[in-house]
Amino acid sequence: MMLAPPFWKGIAMVMHNPFTPSFGIIPPYMAGREDLIEELSNAFSNGLGDPNLSTIVSGPRGSGKTALLSFVAEEAASQGWISANTTAATGMLEDILDQATVAARDFLDSLDDKKLKGITIGQFVGFEWENEAPRSGNWRTQMNALLDQLAEHEVGLLITVDEVRVDLEEMRQLARVYQHFVREGRKVALLMAGLPYAVSSLLSDESVSFLRRARKHALGRIPDNDVRDAMNLTIVQGGRAISPAALDTAVRAVDGFPYMMQLVGYRIWAERPASEEISPDDVSRGVELARREMMEGILECAYRELSKGDKRFLAAMLPDAKDSSLADIAERMGVKSNYASQYKRRLLEQGVIGEYQKGYVRFDMPSFREYLQTQLEG
Ligand SMILES: Nc1ncnc2c1ncn2[C@@H]1O[C@H](COP(=O)(O)OP(=O)(O)O)[C@@H](O)[C@H]1O
Ligand SMILES: [Mg+2]
Repeated sequence: MMLAPPFWKGIAMVMHNPFTPSFGIIPPYMAGREDLIEELSNAFSNGLGDPNLSTIVSGPRGSGKTALLSFVAEEAASQGWISANTTAATGMLEDILDQATVAARDFLDSLDDKKLKGITIGQFVGFEWENEAPRSGNWRTQMNALLDQLAEHEVGLLITVDEVRVDLEEMRQLARVYQHFVREGRKVALLMAGLPYAVSSLLSDESVSFLRRARKHALGRIPDNDVRDAMNLTIVQGGRAISPAALDTAVRAVDGFPYMMQLVGYRIWAERPASEEISPDDVSRGVELARREMMEGILECAYRELSKGDKRFLAAMLPDAKDSSLADIAERMGVKSNYASQYKRRLLEQGVIGEYQKGYVRFDMPSFREYLQTQLEG
C-alpha cells in the first residue's frame, strides 16, 4: 500500500514545551545545584563514613527540594544504590520498608540470569518469602534483615524523606534507628528536605539531636548565570532558540527562583510554540502571565501563613528599595529591635526574607513585595 505524504508536510512542527512548572517534577536542567549534587554523588561512591551521606536540605516552597530528592535518588541508583523515598506522615516507616523491599527485589531481578541462578537465588527467595509471610519483629529488625541481604551484594540503601516535620513520632523513630544503622557500619544514607522552619525546629528537638550532625544545605536563590544557562539549554534542546536580549529579560523575571524559572520558561515558550525563536514580545507577554501565576500559587500561600506581627514587620520594609536595616524596621514599627528580631527570625525561617548582611534584610521571594503592597492596600 502506498502511504500518503505526511499530512503535516509544510506545516511548521510544534515542539513539545520542555519546561516543567509543576511541583515535584525533575526539570530538564537542574540550575545552580551542581556543587550540592556533586557532593552527594561523591558520597555514594565514597560510601561509609562520608559525612554527606546524612544530609538535610531546607528551602521555601518552589525552591526545588522535591526535585532534588528525586534527582539524587536517580544519581544514587546509577551508582548501585537503591532508594526508598517517602514523605513525612503517619505510616512513613512502613512505607520505607515496603519501598526498600520492592527496590531490593527489582535490583536482584535485574542481576543477570547466571548470577541469579548461581549465587543469589537463595537471597532472592528470601525476599519473596519475607514479602509474603507475615512480618515479624519491629521495624528495626525488619530493616536489618533487608540491609543484611543488600550488604551481601554491597548495595547501599538511600532513604529520602520529604517535607520533614518534628511533630511526628515516626520521624523521631527513624532518626534513632538510622543512628544505629550508621553505628553498625551499614551502607545507608539519609537525605531529608523541608521548609526552613520545619527543618530548624526538627534540628532543635532534643530527641533527634543525632540529626544535628547531618550536613545542612539551604536551597537559596540560583545565580542569574546558572538560570540563564539552564533556560537557554532547555530551549535549545527543546528545538528552538532565544536571543540574548530576550533571554536576559526572562532571567531578570525569574529572579533566581526555580519554580519561577519553569513558569517563565513555560509561558514564553507557549506564546508561539510553532515559531523557531522565542521573541522579546513572547518574553514580555509570557513573563506577565508567569508573574500572575506565581502570585496565585506561592505568594498567596505564603501570605496566608503570616501573623499580624509578621505583616507589620514586612510593611516596615516597604519604604526601602532593596535592603532594610533592622534598626529602621524596629523604628518604623515603633518597637525595640530585639522584639523586631523575633519576627525577623520567623520570616527568615519561612523563607520570605533573607539576611545577606548582618542587620539587613530583604524580600527573598520574587514579587512578594508587590504582592504584599496590593494586599495591604486592598
Ligand atoms: N534546580 C532547578 N532548576 C530549575 N528548575 C527547578 C530546579 N529545581 C526544581 N525546579 C522546578 O521548580 C519547581 C518546584 O520544584 P519542587 O522540587 O517541587 O520544589 P519544592 O519541593 O521545594 O516546593 C518545579 O517546577 C521544578 O521542576
Ligand atoms: Mg516539595
